[in-house]
Amino acid sequence: MNILGISAYYHDAAAALVVDGEIVAAAQEERFTRVKHDPGFPTNAVRFCVDFAGLRPDQLDCIAFYDKPFLKFERLLETYLAFAPRGFTSFRQALPVWIKEKLFQKRLLASQLGANLDSGVDWSSKLLFSEHHLSHAASAFYPSPFDQAAVLTMDGVGEWTTTSLAHGTGNNLEVLKEIHFPHSLGLLYSAFTYYTGFKVNSGEYKVMGLAPYGEPRYVDVIRDHLIDVKDDGSFRVNLDYFDYCTGLRMTNERFHALFGGPPRNPESRLGQKEMDLAASIQVVTEEIVLKLARDVARETGERNLCLAGGVALNCVANGKLLRTGAFDRIWIQPAAGDAGGAVGAALGAYHMHKGGARRLAGSGRDGMRGAYLGPEYDTATIRQRLSAAGATFEILDDGEIIDRCARALAVGMAVGWHQGRMEFGPRALGARSILGDARSPAMQKLLNLKVKFRESFRPFAPSVLREHVSDWFDIDEDSPYMLLVADVRNEHRIAMTPEQEALFGIDKLNVARSSIPAVTHVDYSARIQTVHADTNPRYHALISRFRDLTGCPVIVNTSFNVRGEPIVCTPEDSYHCFMGTDIEVLVVGNAYLEKSRQPEHLKTRYEDNFALD
Ligand SMILES: [Fe+2]
Repeated sequence: MNILGISAYYHDAAAALVVDGEIVAAAQEERFTRVKHDPGFPTNAVRFCVDFAGLRPDQLDCIAFYDKPFLKFERLLETYLAFAPRGFTSFRQALPVWIKEKLFQKRLLASQLGANLDSGVDWSSKLLFSEHHLSHAASAFYPSPFDQAAVLTMDGVGEWTTTSLAHGTGNNLEVLKEIHFPHSLGLLYSAFTYYTGFKVNSGEYKVMGLAPYGEPRYVDVIRDHLIDVKDDGSFRVNLDYFDYCTGLRMTNERFHALFGGPPRNPESRLGQKEMDLAASIQVVTEEIVLKLARDVARETGERNLCLAGGVALNCVANGKLLRTGAFDRIWIQPAAGDAGGAVGAALGAYHMHKGGARRLAGSGRDGMRGAYLGPEYDTATIRQRLSAAGATFEILDDGEIIDRCARALAVGMAVGWHQGRMEFGPRALGARSILGDARSPAMQKLLNLKVKFRESFRPFAPSVLREHVSDWFDIDEDSPYMLLVADVRNEHRIAMTPEQEALFGIDKLNVARSSIPAVTHVDYSARIQTVHADTNPRYHALISRFRDLTGCPVIVNTSFNVRGEPIVCTPEDSYHCFMGTDIEVLVVGNAYLEKSRQPEHLKTRYEDNFALD
């Protein structure tokens, strides 16, 4: 049974292939088109999935789309009518697109599939439409390592639903409760993303990263004016302060008056106010997530929780949730945003529509294969493609490539690391990553300013050998997808002097907080990736070698891209990013490249190619 899942026409289009209930391949369209969060039909991702499995297009039994276009249309129409004539501008701008493309999705999808795969197949007879939050819930439960679990999904909005509580048992998934638009935790967080001067739908994690620099002094204002939260976590947003129903902006003049001024201009300097707002919305979000989690625990009686939807990428909230003990175990879909809907739609179709039985991956593992579900390139292809790009490189054997990389890291070089199958979802997990020495006090600034071209407050995440995670952090759990936050252990911390304590906001950034300062946040927290020998042996071997050399099993892992660029996919993407930034060493499979040996004329001002995100 071959099922293709598709997520498209909203943000972050993707395709996923499920064969007999197993996720075989998945990729986001942005990686191929090089347009960040590309929302169009995932032509390239679909082709990749089908080709990877060696299928003929007519061997696809079913194509599952991640949401129901008619329901979404109904929501838009009713929202616009309810707010007419205030909503007219948005109506005029948004509706024609819907009429032309989205409403007639079945015909559109069938013709796209025909154009891309095989026009001789009757694609419309193979199409299934899931619901948006059911796709999220299915993406959270079916690949999880749990036979039974409570499921919580939270995002901006799909068709109507913004939050859902569900119960998964075996191959069955039952939705118990929903909260509907316009009451949305995702949209509330996005309103603060907009107001603090970041881009909605991609800047939310920057707000989360900013929060530790601020004081949560606006929590009461938010509770008193913007959102009413009940004990069971259900909530109502006060629409008097928001513009997302009627306009194309998130917040209105009343919101701006409440917080004392207009939204921050995106390129202007961040101030204490933005940090305090970020800290405040983070506190409110954590409270709601905790209450919802307690409620779904009560409703289902389960001790395992599965999470998905954009809000599940809030790893600070996830870490707190884990520490409360509301659940024994938590599993979070790594592609928690809408790209993951492609995986959920396909798995939902297999289990709920076709009655496919569920087989757990075994030994506590999940069904996401470490999220290494994208394209990979063999040595012959890498050699040919790097040569064509004009690169100077050596092909080394496995041991040598690990040793040279580990030595480069140990002397403080930034290393571009392109290995094996590309990750699915927003995080780089050691397949398309830029790596650095976590012990280096200069590394955070170097990587932010000279490699990523972005704001210097942004923290980096550590990759740590699973078997050593509890020696360095206050956690002894698997966190293979970088979705949990935990504190650096006491013995590795460096206490601040009274003068340093007195610093405010971003000035605290330059104070080293631990013996691994490049990955230690101002509040001693870190967003952890545990690295496992069975799911990514090469990455595990690299960090092990680094530990042999330095005694430290922790390195910096940041995504292989610059600000505004999708994560690299091909050997050429990796080479171009290497040549346009201060990355000093690049490895692509077994090809080893040093910056100093590359042709001068191929070096570029790379950051000019991408719009700021
Ligand atoms: Fe969503």
